[in-house]
Amino acid sequence: MLSACILPLFLLFPAFTTAVPGFVAYKELTCSDPIDIFADGEQIPDNKLKIDHAITEWDSHAAGHYYDNLTFPDAAVSGDDSGKAGTQFVYWGVEKPDPGCQFIMMKDTPYGWQVISKMPGTEILRVAEEGCYFTPLTAHDSLITSYCCGQDDCSIAEVEIQSGPPKDVVSGDTPQCTVKNAAASPTIQDGQQIAITRPQSCEAAPACTHSIQISQTVSTAVAHFKSFTFTQESGTEISFESGIDFLGQEKMTSTMSSSIAQAFMDENGVTVTTGNITAATEGNRQMPGTIAFYSFVPHYECWKADYDCGKDINGNEVVFEGISFCQPRLSSTGDADGIFRMVYISG
Ligand SMILES: *[C@@H]1O[C@H](CO)[C@@H](O)[C@H](O)[C@H]1NC(C)=O
Ligand SMILES: *[C@@H]1O[C@H](CO)[C@@H](O)[C@H](O)[C@H]1NC(C)=O
Repeated sequence: MLSACILPLFLLFPAFTTAVPGFVAYKELTCSDPIDIFADGEQIPDNKLKIDHAITEWDSHAAGHYYDNLTFPDAAVSGDDSGKAGTQFVYWGVEKPDPGCQFIMMKDTPYGWQVISKMPGTEILRVAEEGCYFTPLTAHDSLITSYCCGQDDCSIAEVEIQSGPPKDVVSGDTPQCTVKNAAASPTIQDGQQIAITRPQSCEAAPACTHSIQISQTVSTAVAHFKSFTFTQESGTEISFESGIDFLGQEKMTSTMSSSIAQAFMDENGVTVTTGNITAATEGNRQMPGTIAFYSFVPHYECWKADYDCGKDINGNEVVFEGISFCQPRLSSTGDADGIFRMVYISG
């Protein structure tokens, strides 16, 4: 009799039974045999990493849900031809995200990420469809789960889609800037994750290697997170859109950024730096039965400073605060320094 009363309540309130979405860990590509997950040695309920924070939740949750120091005692370990020694093979059962949304899994990074990169870690999995997905992990990796919804938010995570060049923001005189209040030392920052191969599906080894098809470089950048508009003494209006401008590109369109970069370079005796992304012709192997592309996350050194860029039409000093000048770190061979990662996606 009791159950007869309770049942209609559940039917009336279906939200009661809807669980928070998550990545559930499994042993194999069919996602039939769940495996335990431990974070700092504590078992995680339901073998599930919850996906309950968005990639845009910068202030409240650092863009995701952090799971530190994960171990998967029952995961298969490398030894076959799909990974390097010590790799744990973990498969993730994922439900279908809401329409227009995607679930994201990242590896935590030891470097800063809020200057050039908008992602708190390196993306290794991003899905828009229900399914069973693979990631290679190392014991004690820390992972971040997140989600995005809508084109604007998801563009942060769609690293295989190249963004266009920065917008032209100045017409007229270029302001002359000087450095004010520069930080004494740089911070090391992750750059934007860049796809260096196109997504490919892999039916069976050995046709599952990735060779770089997309030639890419990494260059000096100016990053600023506020937009400014002011009228110079000469009457020219200057607007400076928030964003990141890369200076190594053939056509450097944002003259505010180039003025700021020039001021920093004059002060510090450095020049625009460009590094090529090169890897062994044969990139990491992809797990059969998956779709993935290969990517690179460059490492940067960034100096934060304020810049004095002349006077406005009222004779007031124009100061831009907290702008980062970032140089790619280069290896001894002149290549861009950073890490390569396979990114698994849904078809
Ligand atoms: C990571 O977790 C293990 C238990 O799995 C624990 O022994 C170790 O101290 C943890 N490491 C850190 C850095 O917290
Ligand atoms: C980078 O690539 C360009 C064009 O592919 C080449 O001309 C240049 O020599 C490369 N630079 C280095 C440091 O390898």
